[in-house]
Amino acid sequence: MKHKSKIQEFTSRREFIKTTGIAVAGGLFATKTLNAEPIPASETLKVGLIGCGGRGTGAAGQALAADKNVKLTAMADAFEDRLTSSLSGLEKNNPGKVDVPPERRFVGFNAFKKVLESDIDVVILATPPGFRPQHLEESVKAGKHIFCEKPMAVDAPGYRKVLAAVAESKKKNLSLVAGFCWRYSNAERAAFGRVLDGAIGDVRAVYATYNTGPIWVHPRKPDWSDMQWQMRNWYYFTWLSGDHIVEQAVHSVDKIAWAFGDVSPVKVMAHGGRQVRNEPKYGHIYDHFEVVYEFPNNARAFLFCRQMPGCSNDNSDHIMGSTGVCDVTGFRRIHRIIGENAWSYDGDYNNMYQTEHDKLFASIRRGEPINDGDRMANSTMMAIAGRMSAYTGQTITWEEAVNSEKDWSPPSYSWDQPVSVPPVAMPGVTQFV
Ligand SMILES: NC(=O)c1ccc[n+]([C@@H]2O[C@H](COP(=O)([O-])OP(=O)(O)OC[C@H]3O[C@@H](n4cnc5c(N)ncnc54)[C@H](O)[C@@H]3O)[C@@H](O)[C@H]2O)c1
Repeated sequence: MKHKSKIQEFTSRREFIKTTGIAVAGGLFATKTLNAEPIPASETLKVGLIGCGGRGTGAAGQALAADKNVKLTAMADAFEDRLTSSLSGLEKNNPGKVDVPPERRFVGFNAFKKVLESDIDVVILATPPGFRPQHLEESVKAGKHIFCEKPMAVDAPGYRKVLAAVAESKKKNLSLVAGFCWRYSNAERAAFGRVLDGAIGDVRAVYATYNTGPIWVHPRKPDWSDMQWQMRNWYYFTWLSGDHIVEQAVHSVDKIAWAFGDVSPVKVMAHGGRQVRNEPKYGHIYDHFEVVYEFPNNARAFLFCRQMPGCSNDNSDHIMGSTGVCDVTGFRRIHRIIGENAWSYDGDYNNMYQTEHDKLFASIRRGEPINDGDRMANSTMMAIAGRMSAYTGQTITWEEAVNSEKDWSPPSYSWDQPVSVPPVAMPGVTQFV
């Protein structure tokens, strides 16, 4: 079945925001779905962690701090050493809240299934994003509440799987909180809430940047198979990370989507390439992208993202409206509006990563599920569409992007099979599939 564009919804949604004055995406933490059974504070909420790296370990600690009666009871990772170091850190920092005996520590590609079969209430999905659609689908099938790190997919087949899982999660009254953390930052919520309330008039354009230096690389060891090498260096392979526009700059894409009321763009045109980071140890991903998103009503968003050493870095969002401009530079705490409704944020700065879990666990306790699923899927797909356009050199409509058949996953998940490195995508040569 072909997926419909959200263009038709655009006018009515903007109208709704304008006439009701409700900041749909800024004022609410997430969309509430139907009520589920409340869970009394006396009942322990058991958490399983899938993907025990930096973010997964951080998220597990935040889950354990979010509620007085939570325990981490099961863990899964592709690699035993990652699981072991995560577990020892969590045990040290969360005395009495970690109960993961050897029989509930699972390793390998199918380890996630074992966690889902364990007696857990909430699962944290924090592997590289190439696995996310499958892990999300299975988590929903197993009826677990979910904290789902960003991004949620690396290609359109994955996006479609995520959409189906989100629909199913709503039917099952599951809470689904996404790791688009800025949506849980008080300062960003105040700024984007005002934009959606009309404080800068109609949003005409957004200019967003995620320009940073390079990130980690793990030199290949002689005894590593192709699969081990790629999994240890997941960032540099599109089947695992989606490329850095999807893995990292998706935060900026998510804020672009937020500013436009979470509608999808009409079409996408992008440039990109691999200019500095071009040795084989960097797999086949790009080191820079520039994307133009065209929205209904002729508005545009411009995204620049780069991972190169020795260049000027910037991670900010500038939302240009018909009566003012909203500047957001989260990490430097700049949140202001210039124009008719001049404003500057003077409220509290919360720990957005903690707030994500506070809201998730409170929603589970109250039996009032929150579900970030639709917008998390839309933002992820917008980033994927930017990559598709840059890789192929083509202008790509949203309809084409969401219906793409390009599936980046390997033929099977096993440690010993050869896994070749795809050629670096060449605009004008690489075909859109
Ligand atoms: N919201 C944020 O600000 C934020 C920050 C950092 C990372 N992230 C996201 O969190 C995710 C993880 O990133 P990270 O920095 O923790 O990476 P990481 O490499 O530190 O951790 C990933 C872990 O997943 C494990 N893993 C890989 N495949 C697996 C599989 N099939 N089953 C089980 N475990 C598997 C790896 O062995 C590793 O331990 C990514 O999607 C990333 O984009 C989000």
